[in-house]
Amino acid sequence: MARRPLVAGNWKMNGLRASIGELEKIIAGARKLGNVDVMVCPPATLIAGFAAASRGTSVTIGGQDCHALAAGAHTGDISAEMLHDAGATAVIVGHSERRRGHGETDAAVRAKALAARRAGLTAVICLGEQRAERDAGRTRQVVGAQLDGSLPDDAEHVVVAYEPVWAIGTGLTPTPADVATMHGFIRERMCSRFGAMGNAVRILYGGSVKPANAEDLLRVANVDGALVGGASLDAAEFLAIAAVYR
Ligand code: PGA
Repeated sequence: MARRPLVAGNWKMNGLRASIGELEKIIAGARKLGNVDVMVCPPATLIAGFAAASRGTSVTIGGQDCHALAAGAHTGDISAEMLHDAGATAVIVGHSERRRGHGETDAAVRAKALAARRAGLTAVICLGEQRAERDAGRTRQVVGAQLDGSLPDDAEHVVVAYEPVWAIGTGLTPTPADVATMHGFIRERMCSRFGAMGNAVRILYGGSVKPANAEDLLRVANVDGALVGGASLDAAEFLAIAAVYR
């Protein structure tokens, strides 16, 4: 099955209004890349402005997290409906920095993915093992449990991002063979749970993707794109990664 690749940039807690120049460069570069979806996930303060600037272009805008509820007394939180209202078309949920830093469980991540669906957003659901879990030979067990617990019962409008926690922001990456093993494992699990739909879901790789390693990591079977952190802050680097799909 042909799955259209997606390269998404997770800006994390980086970016000010002046960063719109970087988005403009990304928009201009993405225009020349016809075979890949390009998404930028800026901090919440920039979503409305970025969505306005990218309207009518091939670049879409996503949030980095959402609350499970649509509205209410939840100081500091943002709902999927609010992201949608601001012009986002997707939201990252269950990033390891949220799982670790904010104690998000699989059940909480699943509730957020359902909220995304309710609001009409694609949920980019993140999974990945810690270094100690990998060293203990528990990678499949951990990622399998996260997959089972974090995904809704219907995989429509879902993107999965496999991000080994030890590879995020460290410059370390698994070998292409390890990536192939894990993406194959996730694909198999998705297909046994969702049937044909499991084969349509895009599985992104994330964790220290850079222009220098993008070709090796993204050409692996069942890798349908990348979730890029650090390298997405620089338009040229980000576009060089997306250009793997030229
Ligand atoms: P990184 O981050 O590319 O900086 O490793 C990836 C991520 O956290 O999504």
